[in-house]
Amino acid sequence: MWERLLTDCHVATMVPQPGNPLGIIENAAIGIDDGKIVRVAKRTELAGFRAAQVTALGGAWVTPGLIDCHTHLVFGGNRSEEHAMRRAGATYEEIAEAGGGIVSSVAKTRAASEEALLASARRRLEALAKSGVTTIEVKSGYGLDVETELKMLRVAKSLDGHKGVTVVPTLLALHALPPGVDRRDYVDRVAKETIPAVARERLANSVDAYLEGIAFTRDEVEKIFTAAQAVGLPVRLHAEQLSNQQGAALAAKHKALSADHLEHLDEAGVKAMAASGTVAVLLPAAYYCLRDTTPPPVDLLRKHKVPIAVATDCNPGTSPTLSLPLVMNMGCTLFGLTPEEVVAGTTVHAARALGLAHDRGALAPGKRADLCAWNVENLAELGYWIGLPGPDRRIVAGADA
Ligand code: NIG
Ligand code: FE
Repeated sequence: MWERLLTDCHVATMVPQPGNPLGIIENAAIGIDDGKIVRVAKRTELAGFRAAQVTALGGAWVTPGLIDCHTHLVFGGNRSEEHAMRRAGATYEEIAEAGGGIVSSVAKTRAASEEALLASARRRLEALAKSGVTTIEVKSGYGLDVETELKMLRVAKSLDGHKGVTVVPTLLALHALPPGVDRRDYVDRVAKETIPAVARERLANSVDAYLEGIAFTRDEVEKIFTAAQAVGLPVRLHAEQLSNQQGAALAAKHKALSADHLEHLDEAGVKAMAASGTVAVLLPAAYYCLRDTTPPPVDLLRKHKVPIAVATDCNPGTSPTLSLPLVMNMGCTLFGLTPEEVVAGTTVHAARALGLAHDRGALAPGKRADLCAWNVENLAELGYWIGLPGPDRRIVAGADA
């Protein structure tokens, strides 16, 4: 006898079948035991199975719980004043060069207590959970000193499990140069102190960096990647957001889990990512917020079969959004992704970007029973509504969350 049986639903298993890329099973049932999926099949095939709890889902569409694989959820204050400056004509780069941008969030994050950071991040997590998120990546990167980076990662860790959401923490080791600090000394310290400290305390699952004209160079990023790999941490990269710095190829060289943003990615970068199995994480809300006009090369990513994930990039500067379904719609309208691609991009491919594909992101035997039930007529509505409020039911490890 199973723990739970979900009936009266249509399921996007995300296990591709010939002619059925999302592995859709209509009129399905889902068997759950010990918090994991045991069977997904036509209802008629599971008619003989019994479960302690049987839940009829009223004809809902079921997807894996959504995975938001790129966020900067923890930060002090906000940057609503920059929104106004941009409306008056200033660019993101100009604001950053004038001492605003990332470093202004750094000042607010350093000044905030751990409790205050936790309280504000918890509210944001609750909103994202309501929008369907059951797993979220959370980066540091607004500390820029060992102490505050560790403080941010501890906050991320204490959010784990809130509203059933699994938190996957990332050390964003190189985000911006703190004012008044020598570049070389700073990068050295990150490599020799911050990364080893984070590894020792097991506070992050991977190490990220920002390779850009206004941020860090290839050599600096490579130094940090080498330090991360020396302590056994995989890497990921903010790459090709504002200009082509050949970041994706560098990320691929280091077998990065993901390269993210990618508006200025070229075909050589795409090929390198395809060869290394690096996931392309697209962030349409940041593109929208910056009123960017160069979308990422989606056709090249498709041509070379690079897995595409889509995430909120929730952050105070370039993506103050708390809705993954809204971002899924933006992926369709701004980047030309199909509704199927944005569903895959927030489930199976997002799981891969976090190194969790063995455990979640698809509804198949052995995977964690994290799922969303959506009262929609068809699955394409997930990319169609401009900010669908969220699923009608979230189930985490088999239990209602
Ligand atoms: O992913 N690109 C760099 N980092 C963030 C922006 C952070 C900020 O402006 O505070 C991003 O868009
Ligand atoms: Fe980011």
